Amino acid sequence: MSILITGGAGFIGSHFVRRMVNQDKQVVVLDKLTYAGNLENLKDITEDSKKSKQCKFYKGDICNQELVEHIVSAEGVDVIVNFAAETHVDRSILSASTFIDTDMKGVFILLEAARHHKVKKFIQISTDEVYGTAHHGAFRETDALNPSNPYSASKAGGDRLAYSYWITYRLPIIITRASNNYGPYQYPEKFIPLFITNALEDRKLPLYGDGKQVRDWIHVEDHCASIDFLMMHGKDGEVYNIGGGNEWSNIDTANLILKELKKDKTLIEHVKDREGHDRRYALDCTKLASLGCKPKIKFENGLKDTIQWYKNNQGWWNRIKNGEFMEYYNRQYNHRFRNSPMC
Ligand SMILES: NC(=O)c1ccc[n+]([C@@H]2O[C@H](COP(=O)([O-])OP(=O)(O)OC[C@H]3O[C@@H](n4cnc5c(N)ncnc54)[C@H](O)[C@@H]3O)[C@@H](O)[C@H]2O)c1
Repeated sequence: MSILITGGAGFIGSHFVRRMVNQDKQVVVLDKLTYAGNLENLKDITEDSKKSKQCKFYKGDICNQELVEHIVSAEGVDVIVNFAAETHVDRSILSASTFIDTDMKGVFILLEAARHHKVKKFIQISTDEVYGTAHHGAFRETDALNPSNPYSASKAGGDRLAYSYWITYRLPIIITRASNNYGPYQYPEKFIPLFITNALEDRKLPLYGDGKQVRDWIHVEDHCASIDFLMMHGKDGEVYNIGGGNEWSNIDTANLILKELKKDKTLIEHVKDREGHDRRYALDCTKLASLGCKPKIKFENGLKDTIQWYKNNQGWWNRIKNGEFMEYYNRQYNHRFRNSPMC
């Protein structure tokens, strides 16, 4: 079985590549290596003589039709798992154009190639953010989509386009909608790694608004295990929520990080809230659980291990935080802080 993993040099994609290679599967990675893509995330595979033979890497864009058609045909791809996306809400608010390209048109190019070459399974990695804010209760897969920022709206477009290929062409697709992921190799623009690495550097932690927004955290390994499970046992044409069952407010998460790092709470600075910030995400995962698949990692334990990973891998995030990241960070936060973000 040959699996095309797009976005395989990103955070979740690299964990999934590792999981597949460790199961002796043959993997083809297609990644544009945007600011978020990082070949260091796959170093343990590319530098291992046996594992590297199971993983072929293409640097390229999922919007490049010629390249995508070539890879699917030449590599005899049986399964496509599409992680490739522009993924950061704040960046989508600053400029949405690449989100529309990758998260919608890129999905279209991949679906077309899958259709032309009769791929046996297409897994579209969607997100819980397509539902919008959960004012009460938890979203089921049949609930309406109400995305509230350009990122979640473009992901909703890709999600529904994939579904249309099942209805129209009977392309065997599965759509997954996971909650917020955390774990090693997450780009430090995202909430948990930003707060861990800022705290390690004794910088302020910019907490949006009152910090009472609620997120349901799932460890990246639990997320990848669920995708793996669905690749084998999921039903074509179906949507599956993948939640962690760990609802935490952002302020409680920030305090937990500081407690673990033995840093003072005064590092937290409440800053101007994100525009259109979703207040709460919550998923009903009964459908996946009824198939026998449940997350295993308790948030407090997973977060402890994640903090340790960032402590042990300062080189990895220092290299990122020195580059394009700082430009973005200043643009995003400078005007939000009372003082300088460097203080
Ligand atoms: N991180 C989360 O909390 C979360 C939760 C639910 C769903 N998701 C979804 O999971 C997927 C992976 O998320 P992530 O957090 O690992 O993202 P990420 O930003 O860490 O990685 C995205 C990867 O996609 C690549 N990429 C971007 N545009 C591309 C293009 N046009 N062609 C080829 N490659 C391209 C990047 O280089 C990068 O390697 C995304 O589809 C995201 O929407 C993420």
